Amino acid sequence: MENKEARCRASIGVFDSGVGGLTVAREIMRNLPGEHIVYFGDTARVPYGSKSKDTIVRYARQIIHFLQTQDVKAIVIACNTASALALDTVEKELDIPIIGVIRPGARVAVSATKNRRIGVIGTESTINSHMYQKLICEADPSVTVYEKACPLFCPLVEEGWLKDPVTKEVARRYLAELLDKDIDSLILGCTHYPLLRSLIRELVGDQITLVNPAYETARELGELLERESLSNPDEPPTPPTAEPYRFYVSDMAEKFGHFANSILPYDIETIQKINIEEY
Ligand code: DGL
Repeated sequence: MENKEARCRASIGVFDSGVGGLTVAREIMRNLPGEHIVYFGDTARVPYGSKSKDTIVRYARQIIHFLQTQDVKAIVIACNTASALALDTVEKELDIPIIGVIRPGARVAVSATKNRRIGVIGTESTINSHMYQKLICEADPSVTVYEKACPLFCPLVEEGWLKDPVTKEVARRYLAELLDKDIDSLILGCTHYPLLRSLIRELVGDQITLVNPAYETARELGELLERESLSNPDEPPTPPTAEPYRFYVSDMAEKFGHFANSILPYDIETIQKINIEEY
């Protein structure tokens, strides 16, 4: 009994190639305020979006190994690229629950679309995996999916150019092709892209539903914890603080900290750098 309770009080492990997954961590903090989080950003090896499946599976295994040393009770792959390329492999190797962001994102898009034409934007590796298309068509074979890689978005977001005219022009070019296809829903299929939401909204207008898989991922995580009897029974701290959250990176802790503090509801004071190649 005691063991079971200790298990429920353990943290959720959340990881991404860098800062993008903070958009998912933010939703978990909002939706499940009683849960503790250990976040790992692989800032030494970012970007993931141009790397092969073998490499991403190797990275994911190392990160999961590290997170398990932190005694996590469940893992969220808060990265579309790693969810697309590594989730299938690593979930078979684990004895704790693990979820990615693609299945939840695909599910929401299928329920949002009326004209059954869905656009997906993401990194090159996510788009080339066709994982969104696969899961959407499994859920509803009558849907047509139009995919577009947007490799310049991540560096622009990391540069902080969220509303810059250069970013807007880049977005205009990427999105033109999808807008020609008469889509009514667009999946923001990279965890960096929700930070470009208002700029994308300006370009696509009000008629297109923008799907951020992070919301549904946080919701499905809550359901998963309930189902597995793993929810933390403790009340969240009042007023809310950053205390239940721990952050680790593989490089550039200070830069990560500035970025994190600009998008999270709490100021993070400590970010620890670890050597992920040791795991
Ligand atoms: N945040 C990652 C994703 O959701 C992509 C960033 C990268 O290329 O590392 O796909």
